[in-house]
Amino acid sequence: MGEVWPVTTCRNDAGELTVGGVSLVSLANEFGTPLYIYDEETLRTSMRAWKHALTSRLPGSRVVYAGKAFLCTAMAQIIAEEGLGLDCVSDGELFVGLNGGVASAMLSLHGNNKGRNEIEMALEANIGKIIVDNFDEIEMLAELTADRDEPITVLIRLNPGVDVHTHKKISTGMADSKFGLPIADGQAEEAVIQLQQLPGVHLAGYHAHVGSQLFDTDAHTAAIADMIAFAADMRAKHSVELEIFSPGGGFGISYLDGDAPLTPDYWVEILATAIESACTAHELPLPMVIIEPGRAIAGPAGLTVYTVGTRKELEGIRTYVSVDGGMADNIRPSLYDARYTAVIANREPQEDVIENVTIAGKYCESGDLLIEDISLPPAHEGDLLAVPATGAYCLAMGSNYNMSLKPAVVLVNQSAARLIRRRESFADLIRLDLP
Ligand SMILES: Cc1ncc(COP(=O)(O)O)c(C=O)c1O
Repeated sequence: MGEVWPVTTCRNDAGELTVGGVSLVSLANEFGTPLYIYDEETLRTSMRAWKHALTSRLPGSRVVYAGKAFLCTAMAQIIAEEGLGLDCVSDGELFVGLNGGVASAMLSLHGNNKGRNEIEMALEANIGKIIVDNFDEIEMLAELTADRDEPITVLIRLNPGVDVHTHKKISTGMADSKFGLPIADGQAEEAVIQLQQLPGVHLAGYHAHVGSQLFDTDAHTAAIADMIAFAADMRAKHSVELEIFSPGGGFGISYLDGDAPLTPDYWVEILATAIESACTAHELPLPMVIIEPGRAIAGPAGLTVYTVGTRKELEGIRTYVSVDGGMADNIRPSLYDARYTAVIANREPQEDVIENVTIAGKYCESGDLLIEDISLPPAHEGDLLAVPATGAYCLAMGSNYNMSLKPAVVLVNQSAARLIRRRESFADLIRLDLP
């Protein structure tokens, strides 16, 4: 199978799609659909590829997985086993990371509106880093760290104000952004001055995340140049050393056949060269570098299996083929106009008959269309439809819209399947309700 599928994907003699040596038909029978499936081999292979690329090029550097892409206890355990850090953006993510055994030193906390409770939790757990986003947070940190024996390490999230070539809703490094403090208008420098005055805080460097699903390195290299120039300026003016530097994540993946994402080695080479040359130009020692891939690790390892239900043919307009999931488990098509491909998973498709259809979700929104205009062999009620590259930002953004039950998640490896998150039940739907 192509790049969009987990590395272990193939068809068995019965023509059924298999992943990790397990037939998707047997998984659907055992666990029901919609079903999220993660291929452990793809997951661990990409974690190792990023780690190897980064640490062999820049010894002492660290890969920190962005948990927002997909997180559960088993995922946190794999992260810990593979020696990656975990980037969290809420107390909930911190909780799941700690529950999965990620060492607190390997955790970091982001967020443009961290609650007092979230900062308290991070300080109590003594996590590795807090990435400071704004002045209100600095005020809170001043108060909450006043009595600390050991200062907490912080980075400042900078807004480098760069052009980002991706969907507007996943661009974060442009001037008009809710994330980070702008370098250009002096706010970032003011944050440096304020943080330096806090005895409970150790300012160790700077961070930026310019955007997501990027297929070119321009925004990263532009941001790196500006951020390191800023770091040099802060060293000269305020004696702040650049110990840690993070250009974030954002590394794009294949969603459609023909997409050509950059490899971990390529990304790392470009980032490392940009960091090294900027540091040399400004006579700064090379800092510890942290990268934060989320999508690039979880995305390609995951796929979703749906059961086909109804068909509706609108003469001269389009044919809708509906499946038993949709925007409640994958909102990306509605939110970002994201495009997916799909195949029929329960039988070898007859390639000689192809039709153009739209795969509709089952939820009560006209916009709940999973894939608009896809060429597929005719799919009928009871067929299984597999959609690849759904490992990141799908279930993580899932909802109970229309009182739907969030799907189960299965991890497959070496012909075995392990349920790592059970399907929600009706009881879960009313668990929090009070009569
Ligand atoms: C601070 C930060 N780091 C890393 C990421 C991960 O991005 P990606 O999944 O595109 O690698 C994000 C995504 O929003 C982010 O906000």
